[in-house]
Amino acid sequence: MAQIGTHISTAAKHLSDGQNVAIPTETVYGLAGNALDQDAVLRIFAIKNRPKFDPLIVHTHSLEAIAPFVSEIPETTRHLLEVFSPGPLTVVLPKKPIISDLVTSGLSHVAVRIPQTHLTLALLKALPFPLAAPSANPFTYVSPTTAAHVQQQLGDKIPYILDGGPCDVGIESTIVREYADHLAVLRLGGLSLEDLAAHSQKPVKLLSAHEDGASPGSFKKHYATKTPLYLNWQATELPADQQTNLAYLRFAKPIEGIPLESQFILASDGQISTAARNLFSLLRALDSGTFSAILAETLPNEGLGKAVNDRLMRAMDK
Ligand code: TXA
Ligand code: MG
Repeated sequence: MAQIGTHISTAAKHLSDGQNVAIPTETVYGLAGNALDQDAVLRIFAIKNRPKFDPLIVHTHSLEAIAPFVSEIPETTRHLLEVFSPGPLTVVLPKKPIISDLVTSGLSHVAVRIPQTHLTLALLKALPFPLAAPSANPFTYVSPTTAAHVQQQLGDKIPYILDGGPCDVGIESTIVREYADHLAVLRLGGLSLEDLAAHSQKPVKLLSAHEDGASPGSFKKHYATKTPLYLNWQATELPADQQTNLAYLRFAKPIEGIPLESQFILASDGQISTAARNLFSLLRALDSGTFSAILAETLPNEGLGKAVNDRLMRAMDK
């Protein structure tokens, strides 16, 4: 099993040796490798069982550190990076040849992000190379938000998990790409559309998953629990063999008339950000085999609620 610890020097040593290490970020834990080392990048795809047509995000520690990897940072993107980085924002920019086609799955553009978690920022500053890192979960499963989640699923495949505690935001970063006349949102995530729009000098346009230019990894089926999950369904609408032993995944309040022990509240304080923080942990807990199905409800469609609803919709599509 992987060693779990808080030593930046140990993580740095493994990564410098070409190994893969799980790293904490404010969104979810990442499975990192030297982005400039083909073998380390190849192993990321192998460990996750991820298809090579789904490109990786490259993580760096500052705006200056991005420059060697991209040929241009357009004005709106630069401004957004200045406002929201470090943070849950990923920007897609034209790549320089030093970033291999393996990292970008052959695309001319590379996704770049500056994560906020202190340990990982310090690690990135200590390393002479950037880190390619997808979420540290097997392909299509729920993303990990604690070191223990990573240990359960990938612990036998990596030497070290850098433990930064539970992730603060809890859902993956928002991915954007700037075009001449608009800013395209390729994935909803931990930075809300409202916050983006307030600081974007161009109109913000949300791309649906299968539109041209959407992230190659925006598969409908994603974030999927093994236990069937239904969004806004009634128990009586479920297949007969799934009608007993239900788990109810609720936003802030239980439903009347259902035993409380089968109801699970994402945010008892009623805050959408709390629901986002707890979402993946709770989905994992409900996916332990105890329940025949999960009945989830949508969150208010505002702020991070949009990103949580997006994840729940994909968890249902299987
Ligand atoms: O919050 C996050 O973004 C986390 C943490 C670890 O940073 N990372 C993450 O990575 O969620 P991953 O690989 O699970 O999701 C990255 C998404 C995929 O859907 C991928 O298709 C898309 O980003 N992506 C990566 N490079 C891209 C590119 N050059 N153009 C468009 N989409 C890209
Ligand atoms: Mg992922």
